[in-house]
Amino acid sequence: MTAKRLYIKTFGCQMNVHDSERISGLLRNEGYRLTEKPEEADMIIVNTCSIREKSEQKGYSDLGRFAQLKRDKPGLVLGMAGCVAQQEGEDVLRRFKGLDLVFGSSNIANVPRMIETITLKSQPVVMVQEPPGPPQTTPAVRKDRVRAWVSIMEGCDRHCAFCVVPTTRGRERSRPSAEIVHEVTHLAEAGYKEITLLGQTVNSYGKSLEEGVDFADLLAMLNGVDGIERIRFESPHPCDMTPKLIETMAELSKVCEYLHLPMQSGSDTVLERMGRGYTLDQYRRIVTRMRQLVPDMAFSTDIIIGFPGETEDDFQETLDAVSEFEFDNVFYFNYSRRPNTPAERFEGQVPEEVKAARFERLSTLEKSLARRKNHALIDTVQEVLVEGRSKRDRVKFTGRTRSNKLVHFGDANEEIGRLLNVRISSAGSTCLEGIPIPSRSR
Ligand code: SAH
Ligand code: F3S
Repeated sequence: MTAKRLYIKTFGCQMNVHDSERISGLLRNEGYRLTEKPEEADMIIVNTCSIREKSEQKGYSDLGRFAQLKRDKPGLVLGMAGCVAQQEGEDVLRRFKGLDLVFGSSNIANVPRMIETITLKSQPVVMVQEPPGPPQTTPAVRKDRVRAWVSIMEGCDRHCAFCVVPTTRGRERSRPSAEIVHEVTHLAEAGYKEITLLGQTVNSYGKSLEEGVDFADLLAMLNGVDGIERIRFESPHPCDMTPKLIETMAELSKVCEYLHLPMQSGSDTVLERMGRGYTLDQYRRIVTRMRQLVPDMAFSTDIIIGFPGETEDDFQETLDAVSEFEFDNVFYFNYSRRPNTPAERFEGQVPEEVKAARFERLSTLEKSLARRKNHALIDTVQEVLVEGRSKRDRVKFTGRTRSNKLVHFGDANEEIGRLLNVRISSAGSTCLEGIPIPSRSR
């Protein structure tokens, strides 16, 4: 029997990318194999993102395109997953006549059951209710062979005024620690060297569990898994960066010297209206303490430009904070009005042209900072995990430093998954170049 073909298009964050890996894992058990070509597929799933209006629109436009394919191929199963599916529920069926399957991220484990129902009843199935209990463990088909994402919790109990996540991904639910350790042990046995723990506020892990394990404890457990060389996580919330966590990060050898810590704004008035729960000074104390304990810790952040009521002075405070903290990388987004969020109705919505001009200013600052930070690494030796052939230059390889910087290096055959010492020879604003040095790092 020839395998059925599955095509998945993914929008949005790493959590969504990993959700697609989990959907593929479950559907593999149902006889589906992944294809890169939508026109060959027996099933197409669009895993949508609603964090900003643009991402939502892109998902809809792809669905429209795939619905066309279905006209020529009536047996094609068309599914919509992710945050827009969760947000819209049954309403999307009116918008897209061809849809067979609509489900949110907390219903992924039910995908096989949903497919059975479609086959039996030939009616569309919508599943967007949040099931009770902790997130279910599912298999995953992972593209990468050395780095793996591991979801440790779902949902978010915070209510940042701009954010749709609490409504699209539900309440915070952590997976039991034993299941996570089990999954990571299997990944190590399968040859994975690096794991990235995923959660919307990853460092509040454990709050919904009775086992009394917090995020720092989980890191310590995973640090003990043989074969795993590097541990990363995304994204922590500043309010959950406890002194215990900061010290644990400094102590554990496998936890990388890289912290992505969303700041969102450098202005206390804006932070307050966003409902972020910290001031700039509290944020500063985390960075200072972390750097005291781990001087070469790299930092990155998320910034929202033009939140309602953001004045020129507020924005200047953001630029000043970005310069002060010398972020290695800044991810910045123009504020986008999202349905059913408090900020949607806030006064003082900032005109698009003002946001665009501020965006350019932050972009210029970010690039010059990144270039300066990367240049400082020239002539240093960095431990790099070999990930694969460079896409830019096929005779080279790529990998990342522990501080999460992309390095192109070498021209010989390298072993994927190996840790190498690389001497950095040149640097741009987005990546480094280097030459491997013969001795192994460990
Ligand atoms: N807890 C997650 C947040 C996911 S959203 C995390 O920290 O990664 C990722 C980023 O998107 C946020 O940090 C924020 O900077 C940005 N974002 C969220 N809602 C937004 C909106 N309405 N407009 C613009 N950017 C937004
Ligand atoms: Fe969104 Fe704030 Fe949670 S950004 S995911 S509501 S911490």
